[in-house]
Amino acid sequence: MHLNGLINELPKAELHLHIEGTLEPEMMFEMATRNGVELAYPNIEAVRAAYQFSDLQSFLDIYYQGAAVLRSEDDFADLMAGYLERAIADGVTRAEVFFDPQAHTERGVPFGTVIDGFARARRDFADRIDTDLILCFLRHLPEESALATLSTAEPYLDQIIAVGLDSSEVGHPPENFARVFARARAMGLRAVAHAGEEGPPEYVWGALDALGAERIDHGVRALEDPHLVRRLVEEQIPLTVCPQSNLKLKVVSDLGEHPLKRMLDLGLNVSINSDDPAYFGAYIGDNYRHVANALGLGVEEITRLARNSIESSFAPKATG
Ligand code: HPA
Ligand code: ZN
Repeated sequence: MHLNGLINELPKAELHLHIEGTLEPEMMFEMATRNGVELAYPNIEAVRAAYQFSDLQSFLDIYYQGAAVLRSEDDFADLMAGYLERAIADGVTRAEVFFDPQAHTERGVPFGTVIDGFARARRDFADRIDTDLILCFLRHLPEESALATLSTAEPYLDQIIAVGLDSSEVGHPPENFARVFARARAMGLRAVAHAGEEGPPEYVWGALDALGAERIDHGVRALEDPHLVRRLVEEQIPLTVCPQSNLKLKVVSDLGEHPLKRMLDLGLNVSINSDDPAYFGAYIGDNYRHVANALGLGVEEITRLARNSIESSFAPKATG
């Protein structure tokens, strides 16, 4: 397909990528062995066979189990290096990488181990890809845990560009984290939040107004609220859409029914991202290819999606 080359060559920013979601089964087994962690699966085939999800929660249960093999600084460095290699191969020039520190600190892995491992890999790849970290709070945990995590992160703020909000959406509205986000923003951090993936449009309003989110992760359910759509278009709020994730978590039943093209036609600022590629079976290039095929996107639309990603990134803009 002639769009293949275009998709690869266009400079792209990946703005919605959970590093723990890039843990391939091979690496999961390797780390489980070297760390003496027992896995619930006898072999790699059994891991892949377990990746059948009915909704966000059914995925998260397996995602946190997988993340439990990560223990040492080397593990976090290897995880980041594996992702950066694949991102570079797909033509990603800038990656703003989510990480879930509470998924590790809750198991007794120090925050510093996590971030020092990431730092080593980011340094090793710095001449090939520009990266920053986005610290995500797990919304199924209490506010106090998020506040404590933010305090723990303070010595490492030079490596963190923003805070985010992820995990189980329904029943955990953004307003619960208004104080944490206010504190993070006062510390000079930017803000993004998952909203409108499984949760209602009200959560997108909440992410914007209660959290000061500058980008919305997913946001596909915003389409249910015309007033919200008008605001998102007027303010050109970036929506980091993840088509393959939406398919695998049954937010849409078929890629041909994905609202991405409708969102573009409405004038929304959308980009394509991979979310948790090891679990959903598609890195960013395949996310572009699959959805372009399913929706019949053309050169102009693909170019616009890639440009949106670059322009929506938090990378300092070149001046002059
Ligand atoms: N949604 C919410 N939380 C997550 C996701 C997601 O798609 N991936 C990893 N944590
Ligand atoms: Zn996500």
